[in-house]
Amino acid sequence: MAARTFPDGFLWGAATSAPQIEGGHREGGRGESIWDRFCEDPVRIADGSDARVACDHFHRWREDLDLLRWLGVGAYRFSIAWPRIMPGGRGAINPAGLDYYDALVDALLEAGIRPFVTLYHWDLPQALEDEGGWAARATAEAFVEYADAVSARLGDRVAHWTTHNEPWCIAILGHEQGEQAPGRRDPAEALRVGHHVLLSHGWATGVLRRNSPGAEVGIVTIVAPVWPATENGADRDAARRLDGSLNRWYLDPVFHGRYPEDAIEDRVRRGHLQGRDLPFVRPGDLEAIAAPIDFLGVNYYSRAVVRADAAGEPVAVPPQGDRTDMGWEVFPQGLHSMLLRVAREYRPAKIYVTENGAAYSDTADAEGRIADGRRIEYLRGHLAASLDAIAADVPLAGYFVWSLLDNFEWAHGYSKRFGLFEVDFATQRRRPRDSAHWYRQVVAAGAVDDPTQQPLSRRIP
Ligand code: GCO
Repeated sequence: MAARTFPDGFLWGAATSAPQIEGGHREGGRGESIWDRFCEDPVRIADGSDARVACDHFHRWREDLDLLRWLGVGAYRFSIAWPRIMPGGRGAINPAGLDYYDALVDALLEAGIRPFVTLYHWDLPQALEDEGGWAARATAEAFVEYADAVSARLGDRVAHWTTHNEPWCIAILGHEQGEQAPGRRDPAEALRVGHHVLLSHGWATGVLRRNSPGAEVGIVTIVAPVWPATENGADRDAARRLDGSLNRWYLDPVFHGRYPEDAIEDRVRRGHLQGRDLPFVRPGDLEAIAAPIDFLGVNYYSRAVVRADAAGEPVAVPPQGDRTDMGWEVFPQGLHSMLLRVAREYRPAKIYVTENGAAYSDTADAEGRIADGRRIEYLRGHLAASLDAIAADVPLAGYFVWSLLDNFEWAHGYSKRFGLFEVDFATQRRRPRDSAHWYRQVVAAGAVDDPTQQPLSRRIP
């Protein structure tokens, strides 16, 4: 197979998040998070587990840094635990929390690996949840305080900041569907939550620029193309509705300073809004949310295919093609189409694929080898789609595999395995899967084997 090469300077990385790997949940002065509380309810997590220890990265981070060094990546995307920095959510800073990330950042830089920092990957301090959580506007103010504390300390060394990871998940999975912490089911509240998350993003960008001059500042959203199950009008409209609530509801305010009109009407029709005026939007909010950013991070896993139910609402149709252990269809064309679409409609200066990867549970054979060929094929296909997007002038500047390690996959507990490295949670032993060896070669060559590809679909809903 011929290799296809990525542009010089393309940033190769691996990604993790604090609540999924750190553990050390009551160590080093860390306060309680909404995920700690959520896991106490035995019905919430599929395998009844929690993230008190997770990958024990809190203690083993130097060992994990060796894995990154071995992979040869140029960047490491990780998140900072707000409850480690401000155990009460606002006010008093826990110096040990800042020291912890300070040491990690220095060690990364010493290893020639750029720290790509996410400020919020869903671990809200429980103290703030007790005061209304993201549904309270004051939480957006607290986030700015937290962003200020972190960037005042690390801003001289961190050159890539993302405010939030996937506002859709925070708002909808956490507050409408109740699958994730804090586990609420209130669609009207979820809209308010989403707005406050976006508002805190906009407000924090100014603070990050002040404390970290010259750094790139951005936000990460999940993106997924939505396809109608059939060409009939109802299914097509259902696809439009899901695209509105999943993709455009977050991207339009950040880049265009407005919520999408059709998606507002959908919410009015469903009774989640009283009228077209959004009661939680105050003068100046949308301008703040649309503060210029330097990059958009996109997390891409799969597409959605939907049909309309009797009320015209989107209902997911089971995927036809190969699926990962999450049940998600392997569909690299969707990454290509979303990169093109985002570049065309929103014109971000740069895009990074901040997450892409697959859950497969392959385990070791008698010789200790973990042959996860399906993960390699998944990554290969998505890297080829990324190259095609670059060839079409998408300003794609880097790619991060999700994830470095098997970890706490939220409501799935430890049952879904995304790691390039397998983690034995009883012993905390890490072992490279074949995909780790493969990715190491890709990073070293800056190139990927060219698979036999289906022509990429240009179809965009
Ligand atoms: C997300 C989160 C990750 C997940 C990953 C796999 O995208 O939901 O950013 O924390 O673990 O996406 O589901």
